[in-house]
Amino acid sequence: MTGEGLRSNDRTLRGNRNASRFRVLVCHSSPCRAAGAEAVYESLVETVKALSLDIEVEVDTTGCTARCTDGPLVTVCIPGKKDVIYANVTPECVMEILKEQVPGLAAPE
Ligand code: FES
Repeated sequence: MTGEGLRSNDRTLRGNRNASRFRVLVCHSSPCRAAGAEAVYESLVETVKALSLDIEVEVDTTGCTARCTDGPLVTVCIPGKKDVIYANVTPECVMEILKEQVPGLAAPE
């Protein structure tokens, strides 16, 4: 599936937009794309779909945030909290990010 196809499917993950949405944004500007942002985005979309979470998680792309040498960058936006930025993200990091940020997803220790 192409990146464009995934973006189209991603819209189905969004559901109703509201103030309580949980957003995961992948920098999609050239330096982050060259560092692998497209694969990170695709992994996030597929992982969120596979998890069938109880909360709405929007996966989207965003523009450059001027930390290009640290890319791919992923920003997690949670209502009422300060944004969390992850640097040098790989597709293998995606599940760990979601476990850290999505309430109830982390496995009990
Ligand atoms: S290109 Fe991603 S932070 Fe600049």
